[in-house]
Parts: sequence; structure tokens; C-alpha cells
Amino acid sequence: MAQFLVTSALPYANGPIHFGHVAGAYLPADVYVRYLRMTGNDVLYVCGTDEYGVAITLKAEQEGSDYREYLDKWHNEIRALFDRFGIHFDIFSGTSRCPHHEKTAQAFFAHLLEQKLVQDRVEKQWFSEESGRFLPDRYLQGTCPDCGHEKARGDECPACGTWIDASQLGNPTSLIDGSKPILKDTRHWYLDLPKIQELGLEDWYTGKDSSRPHADWKPNVHGHVKAMLKDLQERPITRDLPWGVPLPDGITDEEGKVLYVWFDAPIGYISQTMEWAEKQGNLEAWRDWWQNPDCRVVHFIGKDNIAFHMVVFPSMLLGQGDSWDGKPLNLPWSVPANEFYNLQGRKFSTSENWYLDNEKFFENYSADAARFHLLITAPETSDSEFTWEGFQTTNNSLLADKLGNFASRVLKFNAKRYDAMVPSSNGCCDGDQALKDADRAWAAVGPHLEKNEYRKASQSLMAGCDSLNQFFDSRAPWKLIKSENKADLEECSAVLERCIAYLELLSRRLAPFCPTSAQKLRDMLGDVASGDGSLWGEEGVDSPPAKISPGLALGEAGVLFKKIEDQEVQNEIENLLNASQLKA
Ligand code: 2FM
Ligand code: ZN
Repeated sequence: MAQFLVTSALPYANGPIHFGHVAGAYLPADVYVRYLRMTGNDVLYVCGTDEYGVAITLKAEQEGSDYREYLDKWHNEIRALFDRFGIHFDIFSGTSRCPHHEKTAQAFFAHLLEQKLVQDRVEKQWFSEESGRFLPDRYLQGTCPDCGHEKARGDECPACGTWIDASQLGNPTSLIDGSKPILKDTRHWYLDLPKIQELGLEDWYTGKDSSRPHADWKPNVHGHVKAMLKDLQERPITRDLPWGVPLPDGITDEEGKVLYVWFDAPIGYISQTMEWAEKQGNLEAWRDWWQNPDCRVVHFIGKDNIAFHMVVFPSMLLGQGDSWDGKPLNLPWSVPANEFYNLQGRKFSTSENWYLDNEKFFENYSADAARFHLLITAPETSDSEFTWEGFQTTNNSLLADKLGNFASRVLKFNAKRYDAMVPSSNGCCDGDQALKDADRAWAAVGPHLEKNEYRKASQSLMAGCDSLNQFFDSRAPWKLIKSENKADLEECSAVLERCIAYLELLSRRLAPFCPTSAQKLRDMLGDVASGDGSLWGEEGVDSPPAKISPGLALGEAGVLFKKIEDQEVQNEIENLLNASQLKA
């Protein structure tokens, strides 16, 4: 048993969450958390909305909305979508609503300043004379100095992912008023990443620092960070903005200086842990997660967030030294960053109407089918995509035909022939090759989940269902039951007993992937599944599920996954193309 603090990237409260986000940073974390809990670990899962910075102010201003109202609207919508997907956090707050956030972020800044890891200086920044304000980050658009993309932002390029020094942006334009900005002096505070690199960042990252262990970095994470560490530069961590965490008192008399959103947002993982702890009645309990060196901190993110979670935030944590009552803060133990998840060949884009309408989707399709499809097509090692045809295949050919059908044929047969009661077994099917194959397949599910290999985990789950269908088919109980031979009849009841035992195991193996359907299956299993289905159990290659007591009453067989018709798929694709006005 171990202790895990799991986080998912704090989504900006400035628009809807789409399936791409869910597949990248939220669903894998939810599945991981469910699995860790089932295997007896102590887990806290923290998330909330990212509510400061230009990503928020720019959009709220463009809409003419009050920041607070705007944030509440999106916070609630995002939260509702997570509920729809069955993604459950221990706390889901937000950086401007968490009562501990501002002071924690300010303390982080003050500690870094004390350690001389932050320095201020005056430099020229883009300023709109028309609006009378500085144009940090996304307020500015221009040409990327690295790849030539014409819609690069003042902080980073969405095309190549490079961090941009705004003074290097070609042909800068103000996004508030369309004017050509001028350069004007302003004071800002810079995080000395090169100095922190020497303080131990690299030792943690390479694993030399045995006091800060970590899991293996994924190749995409490793590639990105290795390149960054070769040329670390100071990063400005303050901005001139009307909305954000103000600098701590006593730092400056200059007006309008706030912390950069990427400085305060990851601190949100800690401040929201404090909020959770306080709600449990013991604020100090946050330290069990952030200052206990045995607690493993795992950040689920998309690839565009790697630099901040692997370099900037770890540097901020390291740079705290012993400032938090004499104890260091934990650095990430694992950062399972995913690639991007697209939709029918293109990036999800709300502005171009290239997205799935969340409300409509859940009116027509089950969250569990969506969960399973996003997992079996997860963008783990390269970009991947949601296609309606693919979703239909996962739902119909895997979930309905393999998994659901196995449950249904076993339970219906059992209801008809054995009065919905577990038949007695003489053990004659033990060691059957198809059952051994199922054991091997399902024994692999947990280890894959531990390694954040959701595609392989889902495939192994299905491979087990394949083997069980083969077992049922090869033993053909519908023939055995008609035999007048005693051995055949005994074999028939033994087949059913095994199938029911494996269905109970399936309800637990399925639970992290499809929690609602797993519970439905347990209900269908009646008294067989009356025990605690919350434990993963030890069943594996060498230990098939234990024999079930004969006579236990089963529940009623129902439909676990409803089929999706071809016509529905065609309609969905047409709707998507029509909405985006790209119909060929
Ligand atoms: O990229 C994003 O959507 C950011 N809002 C993620 C922030 S993660 C964390 F550091 F808070
Ligand atoms: Zn670029």
C-alpha cells in the first residue's frame, strides 16, 4: 500500500471542456485513482478551475462579462461535464474561489524572493496606447520567431509549442483593439531557473537525488525536458493585469502587478489540498500529501503542459527549501503526459464548431461507452482521434458483442435452466485452456493501469472477454443441458458456475473503466455480488476466481451496452460537417 496525491491539469474556466481534454488529462487520472483505491492505496484526487491570467481576462472582456460571473458560469459547466463522465475528484475548487490560494501563492513568491531565486528588473514590454494598458501573453498576436506561425501569442506558440519572448514576436498586434503596440518600460520579477537547475532540479530529474524518487518518465516527457534543460532561461513570473493574485504586500508600490497565471495555477494543487484538508476538519493534513516524502505526487496533463509541470513547478517547489515549517515540499513522482486527441481528423475547436455537443452526446450515448472508447484510443504515445465510426465499433463490437453479450447469454441461460441460481460444480472445467487465457489477459489489466497504459489495459480486458466467450462456445452448455448423460449435465452446471464466477470478477476488472456498468453488472449478479466489490482482488494467472457457493440467487439479466445504429453514426458525422460548414 502506498500513498498517492493525484492531480489533473486545472482547466481554464473560459470555455467548455471537450472530449480531447477528457481523454488527455482527466479520464486517465480518474481510472488510475479508482484502480489505486481498489488495490488498497491511500489516494487524494485534486482538481479545480484555473481562473486567473490572460486566458480568462481576454475572453471575459471580449464578451463584456464581469470576471466573477464569467468564471462561475464556466466553473459550473466544466464541473457538470466531469459529473457526466463519472469523473470524481476529492475536491474540485478553483484558483479564485479556494480560500487558501492567494496566500499560498504569495508565500511561494515571498520564499523565492528571500532565497534570491527571484529578481526584479525593468524591461520594455508591449503597450497599447489606444487602450492605455500593457499587452501580456495572449493580448498580443504575431509571428512566431521559431516556426513562422502567424497567430503566435505573446507567451507561447500554439503551433510549435515554443516559449516566446514577446519582444521577439514579428509584427505584433494588440488583440484588444487591433492597434500596433509600442514598447514601454515596466518592472517585473523573474524566476532564476538556471540557478535552481544547479540547486538540484537536474538531480531530481535524472534520479541522482535518492531522497526524491520518481517513476520512469514517459518518452514524450523525457524528450521535451532533456531539450529544455540544455538551455534554461529566467522566466518572468509577474504581469501587468487587472485580475490575478496580487504580489505580496511590501514588495512594490507600483499598481496592477499580479502573479503570472502559470506561477499561481500549479500552486492550486496545494492550496486546494489545504481546502480539502480544512473541510475534513484538519487543515494541517495537507502536509501528509505534500511534505510526506513517501507520498507520490502524480500530475496528469496534456503535452502542452509538460514544461510547466516538469521544469517550472518543480523549480518553484525546490526553491521553497525548508520555508514551509522546516520541511521540503514533494516534487512530482510521475507525470503521465498525453499527446493530443483530435476529432475526425482535425483538432477540436469550439470556435470552428468542430466539437461534440456534450449535452446532446450524453442524451444519446452512455458515459461508460465514451469512457471505454477514449481509453482504448487514448493518445498515449502519439496523437489519436475520436471518430464516430470508431466509437460505434468500440460500443457495438467490443462492449455490446463481447462483454455485454457474454454477461447476457450466461445470465439468461442460467435463469432459464437453473432458476436464476448458481448451479453446483464438480470442478470439471478447472484448468480449461480458454479460462487460463482469460486469467492471463485479466492479470495484465492491473499492471497496465499502474503504468498508465490505458490502451493495453482496455485491450487486455477485452481479450479476457474473448476467451470467456470461447469457453462458453466450446463447451456449448445449450447442448449439454439436453443430454441424458450425467457427466454432461454436471459439465453444464460447472460451465455455468465458472461463467458466473468470471462475471463477478469482470464486474471488478471493469469498475475503473466503466463504473456505472460495472455496478449494473453487480446488480445483475444478485447475491453473488453482494460482497464488497470495491477490492480488486488477487485473481490472476495462477489464481482463477474462487468457486461460488451453489444456490446463491442471481438478479435479472439486463442490457449493459445498447448498440449504436449505422444511421445514427451517419447523422452525427453529417451534423458535425454541417455545423462546421465544411461539408464536402
Ligand atoms: O493548459 C491549461 O489548460 C492550463 N489551465 C493548465 C494549468 S495546470 C496547473 F498547473 F494548474
Ligand atoms: Zn512556432
